[in-house]
Amino acid sequence: MKTFRNSFAAVLAVIMLFTCTFAANAVSKEVWDSNWTAKQEDINAAVVMTPGADETQRVISWYSDSDNGKVVLYDILGADHIFNAGATATPDGDYRLSATVTDLLPGREYSYICKSGDWESDTYTFTTIDDAAFTAVYMTDIHVSFDKTPENSVRDTAYNLDLVLETAVNKAASKGSTLDLVLSAGDQASDGLREEYVGVTANKYLKEIPMAFCIGNHDRKSADYNYFHVAKPNTIDMGLKSYTGTDYAFVKGNVLFLMIDTNNTSMAGHREFIQNAVNTYPDTKWRVAVFHHDLYSGRIESRESENAFLRLMWAPVADEFGFDLCLTGHSHYYTISNVMYNNKTVAPVENGGKITDPAGTVYMVSGSINNPRTDADGLSKNIGHAVLTEEKIYNLIDFSANSIVINSYTVESDECIGSLTIEKTSNAGGHSYSSPMSWLNKVIDVISAIACIVNNIGRYYDYTQLGFDIPLFDGLLGK
Ligand SMILES: [Fe+2]
Ligand SMILES: [Fe+2]
Repeated sequence: MKTFRNSFAAVLAVIMLFTCTFAANAVSKEVWDSNWTAKQEDINAAVVMTPGADETQRVISWYSDSDNGKVVLYDILGADHIFNAGATATPDGDYRLSATVTDLLPGREYSYICKSGDWESDTYTFTTIDDAAFTAVYMTDIHVSFDKTPENSVRDTAYNLDLVLETAVNKAASKGSTLDLVLSAGDQASDGLREEYVGVTANKYLKEIPMAFCIGNHDRKSADYNYFHVAKPNTIDMGLKSYTGTDYAFVKGNVLFLMIDTNNTSMAGHREFIQNAVNTYPDTKWRVAVFHHDLYSGRIESRESENAFLRLMWAPVADEFGFDLCLTGHSHYYTISNVMYNNKTVAPVENGGKITDPAGTVYMVSGSINNPRTDADGLSKNIGHAVLTEEKIYNLIDFSANSIVINSYTVESDECIGSLTIEKTSNAGGHSYSSPMSWLNKVIDVISAIACIVNNIGRYYDYTQLGFDIPLFDGLLGK
């Protein structure tokens, strides 16, 4: 009888578990799918919140038939503040509107509505941070995809992003924190199409948590990224540049985030941009670079010559400017490097470990949201921790005055697959702010500029074939 009771209980538990799991996901996807049709106009507006120059600002953007729009911001007392939007004409005959809301106070809750023509958005709410401590979620290679087969690929790949964001918000809440920033290291869209960016922004989270994008190689397959992500803080005229994307920077808490377009190979402009950002914010304790191309994992053998070229260009920059952490993507494989200086391991990194005042940079790659890979070639000797999984991965990063704490999780099995703490006891920590390779800069400038021009000729051809009206010399020869 006891055996029967145990067996019955076990079967019941399995049924309940299956039912609960299935029901939780099915309802959520069902609602997502019905909203996709019912709220098509709002989804197509693609409202998104991105960072301003610092925590006193947010940038809010949306598509509109009208070139005249505004954001109405409400403070905690209900007083309204109007911020007029700038308008950029898109190739589709409408406009991308962007308004920068300013003078935000620390630790305050605000709400806002976007208005243009006869349309107005739902009301969204956000909160500013009040000191150096905040939590970001880092993910990469979201790959929302516009693919006619299956028919609803944008809707379905966009749902996976919503699921990851929801899971990350809940995980942060279970640890007593809120998500204050989303960091995305490129390839948000598989073909760089407007429809795909509409999918990226179809969730509510990216209207209330600022999302910092950088451009990936897939994002530049079309020129639509330029019209989607228009207003970026702390840009400079970099001379040679990509037709799509550019470097930009912002400060949050005690961190200078450098969002870099590694599709643009021309290094002279990148160094000028980084020098300018560092001069503008000299006192931030942490320097975190976010760029698309993976340098160190060694997971894809056929890309090793491209990676070697990128290391030659970027390792001296990370050394010279003392990057603490580089968050990257492209390979779709989760890896955390050792502490790297002069293209070599200078200190090992172990899963669960803590490094204090590292004399170099840690490079991280997260897995892809929609296209995780497990068929890896090998692993570089410079990698301290690596995981192969078919699951979606997100990383919660707690930034504070003295530490960066990274915890990586899988979505489906809710496992913590990696963690690392980086501590600094002074602004410099262990960085020497010098590169043994800097004598190479002039040579690299010439080679990388030629590579940039060759790339841009290819891009110019691709974009004109796609019907974009791109000026030949815009980006080809620079300033
Ligand atoms: Fe990718
Ligand atoms: Fe990529």
